Amino acid sequence: MEKLHNPVLLSEVLAGLSPKPGESYLDLTAGFGGHASKILDVTQQFKDSYLIDRDEFAINYLKSKFPSSINYINSDFYSAVLQLLECGKTFDMILADFGVSSPQLDMEERGFSFRYDAPLDMRMDRRQKLTAYDVINKTSERELIDIFKTYGEIPDGRAHAFARVIVHHRPIKSTLELADLIKTRIHGYSRIHPATQVFQAVRIVVNDELGQIEKTLPLLPKLLNKNGRLGIITFHSLEDRLVKDFMREASNHGEESELSIINKKPITAENVELVINPRARSAKLRLAARRN
Ligand SMILES: C[S@@+](CC[C@H](N)C(=O)[O-])C[C@H]1O[C@@H](n2cnc3c(N)ncnc32)[C@H](O)[C@@H]1O
Repeated sequence: MEKLHNPVLLSEVLAGLSPKPGESYLDLTAGFGGHASKILDVTQQFKDSYLIDRDEFAINYLKSKFPSSINYINSDFYSAVLQLLECGKTFDMILADFGVSSPQLDMEERGFSFRYDAPLDMRMDRRQKLTAYDVINKTSERELIDIFKTYGEIPDGRAHAFARVIVHHRPIKSTLELADLIKTRIHGYSRIHPATQVFQAVRIVVNDELGQIEKTLPLLPKLLNKNGRLGIITFHSLEDRLVKDFMREASNHGEESELSIINKKPITAENVELVINPRARSAKLRLAARRN
C-alpha cells in the first residue's frame, strides 16, 4: 500500500515548509498521506494537525496509516477551512497538492481515465450528485464549447467540433465511448490522446476545482501562525495562475501584507524525479510565509 501514490516534489516541499518538532500541520489535500507522513515524522505533532480530503476512500486509507490522535475532515477544502476558521484554529504549515491522486485515476469505476471503460463519473466525493455523465449529456452545446475552451484550453475550432459530435451522439455513457468519439474529430497523429484535455475540462467542472481554489486561497493566511509556511502544488496553468495572483496580491501591501513570497519562480521537478514519477512533469510548487 505504501506506493499507492508517489508524492510529487517531496524533498522540495520538505525544504520549503521546513517542519520542526512540535509544529502543527494542515494538509488540505491529504490523499494517500505521502507528504503528510514525511512532515509528521518530523513534527510528531498529531493532535493539533488536520488531514483533509473530499474522497472517502482516501480518508479511510489515511485512518489506517496515522495515529488516532490526528484530526480528519472528509469534505471539500473550502468547507473544511471555514470550519477551522470558525473554531479559531491556526497552523505552522499548510500544504495543498491539487488535482487527482494516482489511485483515483487507477480505480476503473471512478471514471477519471479513458485507460479503462467505465461509467462517466469523475466525482472526487461520491456523495455529490453532479457526475461527468450529467456534464456530457445534459449541458447545452454552447456551454460544452465554453467548458472545453476554458478548462481544457482547447482551441475554438476543436471545441466546436467536440461539442457538436457529443451532442449528436448523446446519450454517451462511458469513458471509452467519449474518448473514441473525440478521436473521430481529430485527423493525424499526436503523442497526446485528443480526449486528454476534454477529460481534464469535464473533471474540473464536476469537482468545481477552480472555484474551490479561488474561494479558499484568500482565507489561508488567517489559518497561519506568525512565520507559518504555506506550500501549494499545481498541475496546470489555470491553477497556477490563481495561486500566483493570490500570492502576489497577499504580499503586495508593504508592512500590511499578510504573506511574504518565499520563491519568486515556481519550483519544478528535477530530472531524477521525472524518471520515476511522470506526474511530476507539470507540477509547480509555490511557497509563502505569514508575515505578522
Ligand atoms: C494529488 S492528490 C494529493 C496527494 C497527497 N499529497 C499525497 O502525498 O498522497 C490530491 C487529493 O486531493 C483531493 N482533493 C482535490 N481537490 C479537493 C478539494 N477541493 N477538497 C478536498 N480534497 C480535494 C483529492 O481527492 C485527492 O485525494
